[in-house]
Amino acid sequence: MLSAKTLFQEILDNDESFRLFCSIAASGEAQGGWENGRIAALVPESERPLAPKVARHGADEDKHGRIFRGLLKKRGLRPVEVPLETDYTLLLERCGIGLEHNRLRHDEPLDVADIIVYLAHSRVTEQRAAEQMALLRRYFADHPDIGRAVRLISDDEENHLAYCHEELLRLAHAGHGRAIQRILHESARAEIRVHRDVSLAVMRHMGRILSWPRSRMMVVTAGIHAAYGYERLGGWRRMVSLRMPERTGALDGAPTTAPEYA
Ligand SMILES: [Fe+2]
Ligand SMILES: [Fe+2]
Repeated sequence: MLSAKTLFQEILDNDESFRLFCSIAASGEAQGGWENGRIAALVPESERPLAPKVARHGADEDKHGRIFRGLLKKRGLRPVEVPLETDYTLLLERCGIGLEHNRLRHDEPLDVADIIVYLAHSRVTEQRAAEQMALLRRYFADHPDIGRAVRLISDDEENHLAYCHEELLRLAHAGHGRAIQRILHESARAEIRVHRDVSLAVMRHMGRILSWPRSRMMVVTAGIHAAYGYERLGGWRRMVSLRMPERTGALDGAPTTAPEYA
């Protein structure tokens, strides 16, 4: 029977598909790390207390990038160039979601409206990251090679999501509720499309590497379209709600390290 677990298992078992999978993941994490690092440096004076949390967020994403590169190295593989159509972060930026990279390259401080854009964008993308890592954790928490990495990243993504909820609620209480809801909706609408397109592109590459028969490709493609259909019809709502996390201050304190991957 074809299940998500079987698909992932095949991708993990083959060097070439594992290489592409880890390269795409590492590149996305590294871009996230860079973005957060820049945002931390440009946080406006009125939002000063946020800066160390954004920096911690960035340090976590950088660490995830190192972990995925470490997994490659452990298997004697080098990263491959990430095909443009599989570059989730870049494609979202091209849709105008989140803060423009060009802007972040300059030393102009951000304002509160920019911080809201950053947090709303993160609220949506961290939801995706947390769900994807939870799925991997469900299947591979005890996997000898990737189990530990998956558990560690999954915990971090949960923290990132909790942090976004908490900070957005704080800003909503400070009177920014309408702007937050508007940007959350825009971000979610764009994200579900980009996620669909990237999933299709990634699976096309995997299917080619693993010589999947046409029938399997059709099932995989139909599954991605069905998931998008569900999200478009209402699944998107889970990405725009705001709820105070049980444990607040998820990104307080120094980042945790993963020395074995450094
Ligand atoms: Fe991450
Ligand atoms: Fe994250």
